[in-house]
Amino acid sequence: MATCSAPGKIYLFGEHAVVYGESAIACAVELRTRVCAKRSDSVRISSDIGTTGIDFEIHPYVSKVIEKLGSMKVSVEISSDLPVGSGLGSSAAVTIATLAAINIEFGLGYDHEEIARMGHEIEKEVQGAASPTDTFVSTFGGVVQIPSRKRLSMVECGVVIGNTNKGATPKKTAKLVKHVAMLRDEYPDVIDPIIRTIGSFAERGELLVRDRDYISLGRLMNVNHGLLDALGVGTSELSSLVYAARNTGAFGAKITGAGGGGCMVALTDSPDRVASAIEAAGGQAIVTAFTKEGVRQE
Ligand code: MEV
Repeated sequence: MATCSAPGKIYLFGEHAVVYGESAIACAVELRTRVCAKRSDSVRISSDIGTTGIDFEIHPYVSKVIEKLGSMKVSVEISSDLPVGSGLGSSAAVTIATLAAINIEFGLGYDHEEIARMGHEIEKEVQGAASPTDTFVSTFGGVVQIPSRKRLSMVECGVVIGNTNKGATPKKTAKLVKHVAMLRDEYPDVIDPIIRTIGSFAERGELLVRDRDYISLGRLMNVNHGLLDALGVGTSELSSLVYAARNTGAFGAKITGAGGGGCMVALTDSPDRVASAIEAAGGQAIVTAFTKEGVRQE
């Protein structure tokens, strides 16, 4: 029996722009998906949403992992701190933790690079399109600039996530990515500069992270939120949580992930106060921490 866990992530900067080759900064957070894999006489996949065999509707990521690794007979048990499909990389975390646990249980000998690469392929097969951000950060942890894969210093302030609990799903991500592509086709002179500006935050962000200048980092996160709103991926619920966090003194707050619902993230030195404000504004607050650790054996 082998148990592995892999973290979720937030974007400090750059979601959507990363789809167009711009830079982003993503950070692993200490919210993990744990997967226990055990040799068995049939395939059994068990999670909060039920127990199945290979099932591409109910457990698409784990089913794809098993298929990719050779359709072995394995029992997989999943538990997770991550809300599903809400912009925190839950599908990457379950994919990477399953790849790693089966890799150990069956002695397949893949290294982290191969696990990250296979994880990205699986996300693309299930979702139709996906950047390598989530699977890379879930495998290696830390604060990472994408696409350069440069590891930055750790962000050493509090982080609070606010979940709107409103419908973000992997399918919704594809819809939102298409919406931005449609806007860009129609108004390239308006949308391209917005995308490039979002990309520029990751360059500046690298220096601000190094200098631990969380005030400036937060200010740019606020601007990034405004530009995501301009791209049409914001919602009134997300903005309510973002403003609640800012109004209680967060350094900055923005959408994290594809938007259209799902989660926002705030940087702060008063996580409990910001969490209470997010809850009072109707969100579900998760106080967490950044983590250097990617996928690991438990
Ligand atoms: C979704 O979490 C982030 C997007 O940039 C899509 C992607 O990078 O695959 C919207």
